[in-house]
Amino acid sequence: MSVADPLQELESLLEKLDTWNHQYYVLDQPTVPDSEYDRAMQRLVALETEHPQWLRADSPSQRVGGQPLIQFGQVTHDVPMLSLDNAFNDQDMQNFNRRLLDRLAQFAAPLEFACEPKLDGIAVSLLYRDGVLQRGATRGDGATGEDITQNVRTIRSIPLRLRGNGYPEVLEVRGEIYMPKAGFDWLNNKARQRGEKVFVNPRNAAAGSLRQLDPRVTAERPLEMCCYSVGLMEGESLPDRQAPMLERLQSWGFRINSESAVVQGIDACNDYYQSLFERRDSLPYDIDGIVFKVNEFKLQEQLGFVSRAPRWAIARKFPAQEEMTRLLDVEFQVGRTGVITPVARLEPVFVGGVTVSNATLHNRDEVDRLDVRIGDTVIVRRAGDVIPQVVSVVTEQRLPRFPRVTFPKHCPICQSAVEREEGEAALRCMGGLICAAQQKAAIKHFASRRALNVEGLGDKLVEQLVEEGLVASVAELYTLSEERLLSLDRMGQKSADNLLAALQDSKQTTLPRFIFALGIREVGEATALSLARHFGSWAALATASDRQLLEVDDVGPIVADHLRQFFDSLSSLEVVKLLCEAGVNWPDIECLPPQSQPLAGQTWVVTGKLEMLGRDDAKAHLQALGAKVAGTVSVKTTCVVAGPGAGSKLAKAEALGTEVIDEQALLALLRAEGIKV
Ligand code: IVH
Repeated sequence: MSVADPLQELESLLEKLDTWNHQYYVLDQPTVPDSEYDRAMQRLVALETEHPQWLRADSPSQRVGGQPLIQFGQVTHDVPMLSLDNAFNDQDMQNFNRRLLDRLAQFAAPLEFACEPKLDGIAVSLLYRDGVLQRGATRGDGATGEDITQNVRTIRSIPLRLRGNGYPEVLEVRGEIYMPKAGFDWLNNKARQRGEKVFVNPRNAAAGSLRQLDPRVTAERPLEMCCYSVGLMEGESLPDRQAPMLERLQSWGFRINSESAVVQGIDACNDYYQSLFERRDSLPYDIDGIVFKVNEFKLQEQLGFVSRAPRWAIARKFPAQEEMTRLLDVEFQVGRTGVITPVARLEPVFVGGVTVSNATLHNRDEVDRLDVRIGDTVIVRRAGDVIPQVVSVVTEQRLPRFPRVTFPKHCPICQSAVEREEGEAALRCMGGLICAAQQKAAIKHFASRRALNVEGLGDKLVEQLVEEGLVASVAELYTLSEERLLSLDRMGQKSADNLLAALQDSKQTTLPRFIFALGIREVGEATALSLARHFGSWAALATASDRQLLEVDDVGPIVADHLRQFFDSLSSLEVVKLLCEAGVNWPDIECLPPQSQPLAGQTWVVTGKLEMLGRDDAKAHLQALGAKVAGTVSVKTTCVVAGPGAGSKLAKAEALGTEVIDEQALLALLRAEGIKV
């Protein structure tokens, strides 16, 4: 292209940046590297500075403009912004369907429904005149909202100018502004690092970010917008159904939800609900239910409205993931390495689909941050498989007599001293293996599937063995006799035989598993594997110098220090000796120079559901081939293995242009490397 004419160059830059922006923020399909985008933007700003007469309000350089407001103006919605009726079960859905069919006098044919995830964010209205964004407003009470134009302009998935053509002269688009989960975590981590207040959930974070009087603050918040309807419209007509209408909006540059679907009949609505409910936690954003809409606009018109909600739509809500309850007490749990975790005992509450009566309070810093008192009303969150957490305290309901949480000075289990090591958040029981809690946890770890894999030795049985005084250390597991086992409550002949056989089987193991099973602090599976590979034999590892330890991949000064403490401790060495005398054994492995491993130097990420392998096994196999397996995707990631339900990690990989493979491809790769899967 000739750049002789600066006006032509400016127009071409506007066009290019707009397209790239749309590809990146609306379609999630970036086509150019960030550096190229940045260069074009710098050039645009330079041209606009040189020729201010050409500066347009809808230029991508003008997303963050204007001064902080003193207060938000008011906006009257010409077409009121309504709310939705709720359904909580299949019966409510049947009733909804019955009402529809009765009103439409349509008994035979099933109705067609548009199904849309109900994003948990803030409802907004965007007004376009001749394709240019004029005004953004909150829903407010449905009749009047607040003018948040300056703030919505900073959201990259909201077009400042509509794309394509054929759009109405006046077009009011409605939808939800929300914060994706990954953005929420990023924002809260940043706040935590700066010692600032964190947001309780993505919805509050989105609301707080939109309510900023200074648009520069909003611009830094990871907000997105997804559209679901049209309000005011003049000049053109739209398709005659909801789903194609959304597609039309998409063609004009709006983001619409990719999970939306059209189904026939209410049973199919329930199936859709169920399938999304199961995938809820793997979506990259929070949803609190599904909205079902009669797809055909003509039928919608016939059905009309009751008071403030349409008759033609319903929101089927998921069980809430946050509920209020009372904190009855705080108890302290002692973990494998002595870490003391405060646990909230709660008045039982139904949340996230189960009854919860305990929630973690993590550590002392978290208790301080929440400033929680015993007797407080608290908000508990349980999302998916994540352990329930206390996310905030309703301080308005606090009484002056509610006591603060006091941390113990002595271990609640063994009475040993409790200390907080420098630079650590955790308090720790110093009792080591004399502490029954640590004994139990160490034995559970030793017997777990990825360690010595003693089948049938579950948590309950370990607790019983320690409490009855039958076993106090991992070595004593191998001294258990049939007679002693049979003396336990609820232990039958068959279970005892099975357990003894499993113990016998577990003796034949591998060096990495053995190192991992010992539960040395900070030595996880990956580190155990690196150590085994590097030293090749137990003897070489146990006699290694600090310098030699530090040569191992994954081993820094802290891990080296923990290893040193382990090898300097006579009681630890005694346990290893007893295990070996009991017959625990492994073949020494050849030390592989790191470069000869096929995936050496690579970093992999595994996300989503792996149907055949499971994520844990996939990780272990990748590590066995020399790869590092990380939890987050970054520019350093070599490859991402993504299964069904992969969410934000997959999106990030795609945005970065990282290689992504599915489980089948991983299986092929592992087999090619001689791994039996
Ligand atoms: S339609 C007249 N569709 O749910 C129908 N609403 O109580 C108006 N919401 O605050 C809403 N996702 O912001 C509709 N796909 C969706 C939605 C949705 C979320 C929110 C909406 C409103 C609330 C309805």
